[in-house]
Amino acid sequence: MYLKCQKKMKYINNIFTVEKFRLTNVIKKFETPIFCYSEKKINENIIKFKRNFKSFSPIICFSTKSNCNLEILKLIKRSGLGADVVSKGELMIALKAGITSKKIVFSGVGKTRSELIYAIDKNILLINCESKSEILEIESIAKSKKKKVNIGIRLNPNTDAKTIKQISTGKKENKFGVNEKTFLEASKYIKNSKFLNLKCLSVHIGSQILDHRPYQKMLNVLDKLIKKINFNFEYIDLGGGMGIDYNKDNKKFNYKKYNQIIKKFLKRHKSKIIFEPGRSIIGDTAILISKIIYIKENSKKDFIILDAAMNDFMRPALYGAKHKIIPLKKTNKMTKKSYDFVGPICETTDKFLTTNKFQKLNEKDYIIICDVGAYGSSLSSNYNIRPKPAEILIKGSKINIIKKRQKLKEII
Ligand code: LLP
Repeated sequence: MYLKCQKKMKYINNIFTVEKFRLTNVIKKFETPIFCYSEKKINENIIKFKRNFKSFSPIICFSTKSNCNLEILKLIKRSGLGADVVSKGELMIALKAGITSKKIVFSGVGKTRSELIYAIDKNILLINCESKSEILEIESIAKSKKKKVNIGIRLNPNTDAKTIKQISTGKKENKFGVNEKTFLEASKYIKNSKFLNLKCLSVHIGSQILDHRPYQKMLNVLDKLIKKINFNFEYIDLGGGMGIDYNKDNKKFNYKKYNQIIKKFLKRHKSKIIFEPGRSIIGDTAILISKIIYIKENSKKDFIILDAAMNDFMRPALYGAKHKIIPLKKTNKMTKKSYDFVGPICETTDKFLTTNKFQKLNEKDYIIICDVGAYGSSLSSNYNIRPKPAEILIKGSKINIIKKRQKLKEII
């Protein structure tokens, strides 16, 4: 009944194994909770992503917000990817990972003057602007430095991405990008500016998108707008958003269709495509291992109280996201009880999942929360003064600590 998390991650003799590493060895060596990544899986995802769009070889800028572990970023850099950043901190860590500034794009609705100065000094590929005021701010910095700065304008295409409401970004009520009218005015303004170079039209309609049709709609909007402007953008940045199969029910994003519709679009527009994928590269490459502290029996369901909590992994508490939970060691002795997997934090939303069918669990057993590579460690916090977990990267039978567990004295 337990599905394979991924091929690089599977049960061998009833013990969950990442590449060639049996997790029973991980828990002997390390404390939990702990994030555990597969290097091969990351590389495999990147190869697949490139292969999906190889006919127009896009610039792929990994979305740093989905995972900003320096060692992961170094790995991603080695595969030739650039970075999509949204703060000075993300820009700094992308550069520290060795990613060339010529493959870095900077998005976000509230870039401060000092962040913009830093980005301009680093000569990054593009700053994707999200308002008229931001464009004027960049122009004033560029003027003071006697520089011409390459920018894009992010369009809000008013397209429903048909995903979780909290992670939709492309509808007119969302704060992101500018509407068509502002886009037209801004592009006219930039074309006449001595200090700005209009290079890109960017969009990003949301995240965890499983249906290709919203992308089709978005491209139709771009088509019309480009015709109106009558301008050849050097780059069209389509953002990220491609979803992954969290439920393991084979609802997969149709890359073939997306590739086809972009190819059609490119017949009409001679531009270089930029993608900013996060989740599709890193989401299914990591698990979170956690130990059961206590089991609190209740009439209808038992509370499985874990040593991992919402501060370590926020997605279920924040978006009601469902992540599969599986045992580290399979016994196949099932229980009839429902389990509520919860953390120790003093919040009712500190709950990962309710299951109706699970193997009988005992205190001190270990469980695995699946697909936590994207927006897992990067969203973690010190809420309740809990140190952030360690992160390890497995390659074959080797294990690398890529982030040490925080010490209490570092945060107190
Ligand atoms: N580009 C821009 C401008 C973005 O805002 C995002 C994500 C991405 C690219 C990458 O999107 P992806 O390929 O990963 O879907 N914390 C939420 C997701 C928030 C996404 C924010 N923007 C979650 O855990 O589901």
